[in-house]
Amino acid sequence: MTDHPETPQAAAGRVHLVGAGPGAADLLTLRALRLMQLADVVVYDRLVGPEVLELVPPQTETIFVGKMRDRHVLSQAEINRLLVELARAGKRVVRLKGGDPFIFGRGGEELEALAEAGVAFDVVPGITAALGCAAHAGVPLTHRDHAQTLVFVTGHTKDGEVELDWPALVRPHQTIVVYMGAKAVGSLCARLMAHGLDPATPAALIENGTYQHQRTIAATVATLPGQVPDQRLLGPALVVIGEVVGLRARLAWLAERADDPALATGKAE
Ligand SMILES: C[S@@+](CC[C@H](N)C(=O)[O-])C[C@H]1O[C@@H](n2cnc3c(N)ncnc32)[C@H](O)[C@@H]1O
Repeated sequence: MTDHPETPQAAAGRVHLVGAGPGAADLLTLRALRLMQLADVVVYDRLVGPEVLELVPPQTETIFVGKMRDRHVLSQAEINRLLVELARAGKRVVRLKGGDPFIFGRGGEELEALAEAGVAFDVVPGITAALGCAAHAGVPLTHRDHAQTLVFVTGHTKDGEVELDWPALVRPHQTIVVYMGAKAVGSLCARLMAHGLDPATPAALIENGTYQHQRTIAATVATLPGQVPDQRLLGPALVVIGEVVGLRARLAWLAERADDPALATGKAE
């Protein structure tokens, strides 16, 4: 094998970096579905919904590379190498990631590795968790009367403390969506209030977004941490903070429409 980008091996295969959406299979894009059906191999993560995986033809090879709790099945470097090897072996690879590959999905890192190796690639956007969760929770992320700015941040921590640009986050009329924020919700809310955010600001934790068992815990920045259940029992969850969260009192629709077969929201994992 060689690293030269113009070798026949490098030209033969390709990688489609595909967003699988937040869970429900009918939120997949048509392009994602077509590529999954054409793929020789699908390399997927833990957050790809089970119903989405059912759309991969049974004869297609599938490789799970995701993370189970805090243990990675493969490291990021190993995943990058695997994608390069599969493409160099002439395969059409679908690299399937939960949500959108460019939103906290390490999609950029994987593309850098492919570019470096001279492997052809393209990217298919997916509905990111914030959009899927907000739609299904009845929370319009922007609203002319309440929020003109929308920020996506990660609450991922190394040692229990979230480090973010707090003065920027407490500005008025904005909605904050925190990915990977459930674990640090206590510290997150405390830091926001310490930087001047009104403790009465509406806040919610939205778990298992777009699945039939999506759950929204709506509270305020002051009270949300006390209402979040044991982290070990939580599915994937987002924290959403801002006045728009208060609108769900009037706009939540999922509970009333969960049985509508036309919506076909994702089944339990
Ligand atoms: C590594 S990030 C991947 C985000 C993904 N690329 C996206 O665009 O949605 C994983 C985090 O996304 C959020 N997430 C993903 N799917 C979710 C879902 N169905 N419901 C709630 N949060 C979800 C959670 O905060 C989870 O910890």
